[in-house]
Amino acid sequence: MIFDTIIRGGTVATASDTFSCDIGIKGGKITALGANLGADLGAATEIVDATGLLVLPGGIDSHVHIAQPSGPGIVMADDFASATRSAAFGGNTMVLPFAMQQKGESLREVVKDYHKKADGQCYIDVSFHLIIADASDAVLGQELPALVHDGYTSFKVFMTYEGLALSDMEMLKVMSVARETGAMVMVHAENYDAIRFLTDRLEQAGKTETKYHGTSRPIAVEREATHRAISLAELIDVPIMIVHVSNREAMDEIARARSRGLKIYGETCPQYLMLTESDMDGLNMEGAKYVCSPPPRDKESQRACWEGLQQGIFSLFSSDHCPFRYDDPQGKLAPKGKTSFRWVPNGIPGVETRLPILFSEGVGKGRLTLNEFVALTSTNHAKTYGLYPKKGTIAVGSDADIALWDPKRKETISQSLMHGGTDYTPYEGIAVTGWPVSTMVRGKFVVRDGKLVGALGGGDYVPREKSELAKARETR
Ligand code: URP
Ligand code: ZN
Ligand code: ZN
Repeated sequence: MIFDTIIRGGTVATASDTFSCDIGIKGGKITALGANLGADLGAATEIVDATGLLVLPGGIDSHVHIAQPSGPGIVMADDFASATRSAAFGGNTMVLPFAMQQKGESLREVVKDYHKKADGQCYIDVSFHLIIADASDAVLGQELPALVHDGYTSFKVFMTYEGLALSDMEMLKVMSVARETGAMVMVHAENYDAIRFLTDRLEQAGKTETKYHGTSRPIAVEREATHRAISLAELIDVPIMIVHVSNREAMDEIARARSRGLKIYGETCPQYLMLTESDMDGLNMEGAKYVCSPPPRDKESQRACWEGLQQGIFSLFSSDHCPFRYDDPQGKLAPKGKTSFRWVPNGIPGVETRLPILFSEGVGKGRLTLNEFVALTSTNHAKTYGLYPKKGTIAVGSDADIALWDPKRKETISQSLMHGGTDYTPYEGIAVTGWPVSTMVRGKFVVRDGKLVGALGGGDYVPREKSELAKARETR
């Protein structure tokens, strides 16, 4: 047989073009693009009729947290099985979660543990970023370079959070390793001391409800840290990705750096387009459902984030899926969280809703082209994190990671439609037009016509190359 599968009659879109063609798939790879492929009887084992559907590269969500240790008594709502199942229903074919180091831990051991959690438990493909919490000489001198060599070619650093925040000195050291090894650094930019100061002050004034989460980390906290991270990267001459940017002031720092020729990239997320600070103000801890960091801001910040996506200041649109159950003492209703916003588990679910939200609000409402949508949700993730062109596009030789979309289908986002481990969606009630109906990973359907057909363990771990985008400009 020439092909295992032919996807016939759909409208194919990549980050650059939209065209009508059939896709021939053999051995999990795209082996042909053409008109009327396999017209000969018997050219393929299966022909998939995609008439009336969009045929897009599967979504790659390069910022998700799965089964990550989250503090005493707190448990993430997703393991690899539920997170990757949910992601597949949301039109994704790959996710990149974090293997998180805690102080004193060996990075290599952390990675091994994380593989144990993921092995045989994924419906779609995965690859791991690292989180560096302990920037010791042993970690930076030996473990980290060896791990980059082994295909863990990106790592996240935090400028806030107890036990995770790095000092400026540590940030500089980590960035130096990235420059030497060609890895991509992802930065969570919020000023730790400023947040602690404001949090203490709010608590002393008895202001402990969830709505004060936003007050404790205002825009200046994010803008300052973003500026500082960029300045540190400039000193080392290393590209960095500022993740989960929530507002115009932080975005302007990125735009200014880029206009000076620096390779500074930006990511934003659905919560900064769809939610505001007022969502965290709810009776009976309802506001906890929306507590994440940086916090959702205001309507003007939402407009800014749309502009950032349109102007290419943000090259990535990720979910920052960080799932906790709401009605659960191990989740958002943890007893300690009821005493102060400080202790509410940070993060919200979103891996399944990221793509329908951006498709409907972006493409459907004329804010983005279909090709920009593909770039922001798939292709740029592959390029940023060393997966392109194996992943992130529809081209001969690429993995057959494909999502079939019904662009006209209307749905109202609701928890009853979700397939993950949480018991709520922050986007409940939002009406969308356009829905991923089938998802195929390396030529095999995982979701077909809205039904799970893939096997647990069908998703692979994918080691990554170094990204072209992580290469320093070599200006000195
Ligand atoms: O609140 C958030 N975003 N939690 C996830 C961890 C992080 O900082 O990305
Ligand atoms: Zn973060
Ligand atoms: Zn995150």
